Amino acid sequence: STLASLFAILVCSTRVFAPFISSGTMSKSIDPPVEQINAFGDHGPLRRIIAEDPEWSLALVPPLSILCLQNIVTNFEGMLFKELLPAHKEYVLGRLPPSLPLHVTANLISDPGYWRRCCVQRWNPCDVSQYGHSWKRMFFEKHLENLLELFIPDVTPPQSILELVPLCRDYVLRLDVSQLLPPIKEPGNPGRESDVGPSMDHFDFGLLLDQLSRLEELRLVYRVRGCGMNFEWNLFEFTLRDCEALARALKSCHTLKVLRLCQSKVEDERCRILALHLLDHPSLLELDLSHNLIGDRGARAIAKLLSRSRLEGLDLYDNEVAGPGGRAIAHALSRSATLRSLNLRLNRLGDEGGRAVGQALLTNRTLRRLHLGANEMGEASAAVLAQVLVQNDTLTSINLSCNSLGADGGKILEDAMSHNNAVTEFDVRLTEVGEGSEAFIGQRVRSNQGRVREHPA
Ligand SMILES: *[C@@H]1O[C@H](CO)[C@@H](O)[C@H](O)[C@H]1NC(C)=O
Ligand SMILES: *[C@@H]1O[C@H](CO)[C@@H](O)[C@H](O)[C@H]1NC(C)=O
Ligand SMILES: *[C@@H]1O[C@H](CO)[C@@H](O)[C@H](O)[C@H]1NC(C)=O
Repeated sequence: STLASLFAILVCSTRVFAPFISSGTMSKSIDPPVEQINAFGDHGPLRRIIAEDPEWSLALVPPLSILCLQNIVTNFEGMLFKELLPAHKEYVLGRLPPSLPLHVTANLISDPGYWRRCCVQRWNPCDVSQYGHSWKRMFFEKHLENLLELFIPDVTPPQSILELVPLCRDYVLRLDVSQLLPPIKEPGNPGRESDVGPSMDHFDFGLLLDQLSRLEELRLVYRVRGCGMNFEWNLFEFTLRDCEALARALKSCHTLKVLRLCQSKVEDERCRILALHLLDHPSLLELDLSHNLIGDRGARAIAKLLSRSRLEGLDLYDNEVAGPGGRAIAHALSRSATLRSLNLRLNRLGDEGGRAVGQALLTNRTLRRLHLGANEMGEASAAVLAQVLVQNDTLTSINLSCNSLGADGGKILEDAMSHNNAVTEFDVRLTEVGEGSEAFIGQRVRSNQGRVREHPA
């Protein structure tokens, strides 16, 4: 049918006949260039002919094959495309509009150029290196993220997201959802609860996660971006129902390696529910619960998770973990064979927690990076950590900034660093250790860095 319609175009188009006419004596153009007219050798008074088609030009009619391909581009559909010669495919791919429906393009087109146009048209600037240099992956990840971020419970049909799953599941490795919308509140009657209530408090990831068979990294934030003057606390609520649904969904997602659930007011109860469902997860390597409200009970649940998982990275930056929670995590750390990086920055460990973490590192030395900044720690923690430094095994980065280690703590650390050859990052700023100790530690760190550069492990 494409060919037939094309032939019709050929027969009818005045453009097609125009060049044949012009090859006679008539030159059809509104303002023909002087050379063209003189080319006829006529020195008499100029004859002016007004063209019927003001857009007509002397350019050649494109070859039939190109006309066919142009027609395929404007009326794109899969069947015809598959039969094209490679060179023709390339021509078509270079010209397809990015607005084609996904159910046509998703499984048919793998050409990076096409998906690049789709991305650039919607999101600029685009940094494809963040997506393993795959434009198609970038398109589907960002497209799915956008749908999730605009999903309104009981208003948006879940089907609108689920119908995308068969098209995108091979390309979605990471999802970074930076907002989740709550249900719309009943207008007019703010005090009265409706009889049934919303069917979900935010998008239910149970609908989606077990179907994304390549998903490795998930970052969620249960909040509404840019709410401005419409601020209400319920825009920032990760409800128990959300938490249970999410926890079950995470358990069913067997490919997940990295989970980040930040700034979502996760407190002890929710933390426990999540940790419980993640026990013995087959693939989880990194857990980031920074900027939440996790206290000691939550920390105990996480400690249990540490001992029953293969976690390599744990980030509890900016929570409310105090001494007992710190002890629980330290205990798990002393038995962990996998944890490489631990971030407890901006908690309330105090010396109780700080010493416990230090003791754990004396017995088990898998940890490479430790952040204990801003934890109300004092000289007692410094003393234990100094012993860890003397053992100089695997720890390469340690951050103790914003604690009150004091001048004596500084001296102990200084002494320890003179025996240490492994630490290449050590932050003791704002710890009251005194300028002398800070300078000495800095100098040791630089000489360690030099050694590592010369003899990389
Ligand atoms: C740390 O503890 C784990 C579990 O007890 C053990 O398998 C591993 O060998 C220990 N590592 C070191 C360096 O002691
Ligand atoms: C150490 O932590 C502080 C915050 O406590 C941070 O500002 C600083 O950049 C960190 N230092 C390094 C070397 O990462
Ligand atoms: C570790 O420290 C000891 C002394 O405490 C030292 O003899 C040894 O060379 C150090 N090892 C490394 C790898 O830095």
